[in-house]
Amino acid sequence: MRIPKHLAIIMDGNGRWAEQRRLPRILGHRKGVESVQSVVDECLRHGIEYLTLFAFSSENWGRPRDEVSSLMELLGTFLKRELPHLNKRGIRLRAIGEIDRLPGDVGRTLRDIMQQTAGSRVMTLCLALSYGSRDELTRAARKIAQRVAAGDLEPEGIDEETISAHLDTAGLPDPDLLIRTSGESRISNFLLWQLAYSELIFSEVLWPDFSAEHLKQALVEYGQRQRRFGLTGAQLNSP
Ligand code: IPE
Ligand code: IPE
Ligand code: MG
Repeated sequence: MRIPKHLAIIMDGNGRWAEQRRLPRILGHRKGVESVQSVVDECLRHGIEYLTLFAFSSENWGRPRDEVSSLMELLGTFLKRELPHLNKRGIRLRAIGEIDRLPGDVGRTLRDIMQQTAGSRVMTLCLALSYGSRDELTRAARKIAQRVAAGDLEPEGIDEETISAHLDTAGLPDPDLLIRTSGESRISNFLLWQLAYSELIFSEVLWPDFSAEHLKQALVEYGQRQRRFGLTGAQLNSP
């Protein structure tokens, strides 16, 4: 079976999972962490090299204060608890987004773990935190403009590689497959540039219910897709 080198997931539906059970939304987020753990394990089993998880968007800062602070607390606990497991399994942690906007202690823990796992090579786990694709592209444009203004780069020298290299995802391959859970068929400002040719799978399952089995099904579906990148099917089938 053809396996994606880079899988990206929009983990959606935690709030609805809790609301359906008349539970506070944060319990849905807490249950969602268990799905993260089982999906990471399943990705390792399949030899997926890069896993990017959309955990908190730039727009999510606008949610009720209680929910935001509970989410940040949950993130801090998750990071501290996961470190030994990441190291043991050879997982390198990366983050994309405006990390400086995270509460100080969470940002510090995140930086510590990224430093401590920088040499791990089995899989890269990339967390999108305070991430918005338009924000990322805007920051990239600013960095490129600064280089041009400094005389370090010619406007004619700007190509697609230049843009990719100034995004938070610099050095990561583009996702081969994007999965979004919870039945919503939208991108919600996630990796707009990087998803240009990704296969998209929208699952009805709410993230806290998303299991290793659901991931396996998505991988089977991905394996059956023909990625044409603008060419014809016949071109791809000819030797
Ligand atoms: C995804 O679940 C997690 C975050 C956005 C932080 P939601 O909290 O968006 O769950 P729904 O969409 O309200 O069900
Ligand atoms: C996208 O989910 C962000 C994350 C999963 C972290 P949202 O729940 O914020 O997206 P919308 O608001 O339904 O588009
Ligand atoms: Mg949602």
